[in-house]
Order: sequence, then structure tokens, then C-alpha cells
Amino acid sequence: MRVTVAAPAKVNLWLRVGPPQPSGYHDLSTLFCCLELADTVVLRKRRPDDDGALELACAPPLEAVPDLGPEESNLVVRAARSFLERAGVEEAMHIQLIKRIPAGGGLGGGSSDAGSVLRALRRMHPGAVGDEELLDVAASLGSDVPFFLQGFPLAQGAGRGERLTPARTLPPRPVVLIIPPFAVSTAEAYGWLDLDRGDSPEAQEALQEERHGGGPELTWDDVADRARNDFEGPVFARHPELGDLRDSLRALGARPALLAGSGSTVFGVFAGGPAAEEAVRTLRAEYPDHGVILTGTRTR
Ligand code: C5P
Repeated sequence: MRVTVAAPAKVNLWLRVGPPQPSGYHDLSTLFCCLELADTVVLRKRRPDDDGALELACAPPLEAVPDLGPEESNLVVRAARSFLERAGVEEAMHIQLIKRIPAGGGLGGGSSDAGSVLRALRRMHPGAVGDEELLDVAASLGSDVPFFLQGFPLAQGAGRGERLTPARTLPPRPVVLIIPPFAVSTAEAYGWLDLDRGDSPEAQEALQEERHGGGPELTWDDVADRARNDFEGPVFARHPELGDLRDSLRALGARPALLAGSGSTVFGVFAGGPAAEEAVRTLRAEYPDHGVILTGTRTR
């Protein structure tokens, strides 16, 4: 049996971060949006007499992709192990991972790969792990993994990001991503945010403001009005060039243009294809050592 699933990238169309919690995590109010840009995950059962439970093949190879880490600690392997353990299934499995989403860029690539592995295994072993338990497995792998497990193209996230409410999809829009030649660590970015905000009431207010965001009538104009990423202050203060990239996207007509998650990718949503294509040409000429990718929002 062989199951192939797409593992889409995401951006947060808004991302408000509350104060740190005793758990060490921060409460969020966010609007997750899947992109057409995706990794591919292929799961195949191996012959029962094959040695070793799990085999991972990655293209490009894991060693060639900074931040993916060794095979044992890769989220894909951890996701598969957790599922099979909970399901009480012992079987040899081959996982092929075709990476297209840049790592360390705030686009959720590793979390999406893990969420997709869980979805694929659920298809291979229906009912073997209950829905609630599977959500727990996803959350234990990372705060964004529950979103990718659910497979909603657009959803509001609360709590650590694991409390999800699907939103009615918006019409598809082109999205331009600028990938700088360096990554930003998510844990470090949360640390900068706490350091810069200190005990100010701003953190608490961040969540109050967004409590009513994203109703069923949400439009792209609403999104553009509400778009804000609380990581921009602390991350742009340490990497001012990322603020310049965001401003370049805005000047080219993107609305909204924001830092993706905790960075380092910056993204812009365009109203139409020609403006997005023109922006890609301009940005490639202006930033030859950055990746510039044209993709779009996913609606299914
Ligand atoms: O959950 P994930 O492994 O993606 O989180 C990486 C780090 O980011 C955590 O160790 C934590 O420091 C921080 N984080 C947070 N609040 C969240 C999500 C992540 O503080 N809601």
C-alpha cells in the first residue's frame, strides 16, 4: 500500500502573540493560510520481513538541507513513530520526502511534513488512533502540527495554535515569497519578543484585539486591515533588512505584506497574477542572493 500526500506551506495572515504562559509557550491569535507551495510525502509499507521499522528517503538529502537535522530527530520520523506506537502497529515503512518548502523560514515546512505523515497513516490505519488522541500527538510534535493534521486551507488558531476553527476560504490570490539566505530560530524570536515587551500590557492586549477576528464574512480587505505580525518588531530590530523586504513588497502593491511566522521569509499577497509576476521580476533583480517564489493561497 502506498499513500501520497501534499504537505503545504503556510503563512499567518495575522499573528498576535500574548504573554508567556507557565507552560513556557505563548497564547496566540492567528489566521493560518495554506499555500500551493508544498512538499510531497509518500508512505509505503515495506515487506514484513524487511529490517528496521522506518526508512526515510529525502530529496534533497537531509544532510544537504540546513536545519532539517539528522534522520532520527526529523519530525517526519517522530510523527510516524508516535502514530505507529499509539496504534500498536509494528510494521516496516518507507517514507519518501520531497522538500520544496525552504527550512527555517517560518513557512511551517517541517510541521506540515509531520502533519501529512499523520494524515497518511490515518488513511492507512483508519480508526487505529482516535481523533482526540491524534490531535494530542500532533500538538506534542509542534504547535503548528495540529493545523496541518486538520488539513483546513484557512483556519483561526488560538491557544498555542492548536485550538482551530476553520474559516470560510477566501478567493485564491497570488503570493510572492522572499527567502533570505539566513534562517530565524522560532524559540529565539519568542525570546526577543518577551525581552522587548517586558511586562507591558501590550502583550495581553494583543489577544483581546483579535478575539473577534475572522468571522464567516471575512474578505481580503478585512485581512489586509487586520494583518499584523507581532514578531515584526523584535525580528526587524535584529534584522532590519527583513523590514526593507517587507516594504519592497508593499511598494510593489502587495496587501498585506508581512513577515512569515517568526521569519525569515517575508510574503506579499497580490490582487492579480500580472502584478505578482512583475514583483517577482523586480525582486529577483534587486535581491539576487535571495530566493523569490511565486505561489498562491490554497482553497481546498
Ligand atoms: O511548538 P514548537 O516546537 O514549534 O515551538 C518552538 C518554540 O517556540 C517553543 O520551544 C517555544 O519556545 C516557542 N513557542 C512559544 N509559544 C507558541 C509556540 C512556540 O513560546 N505558541
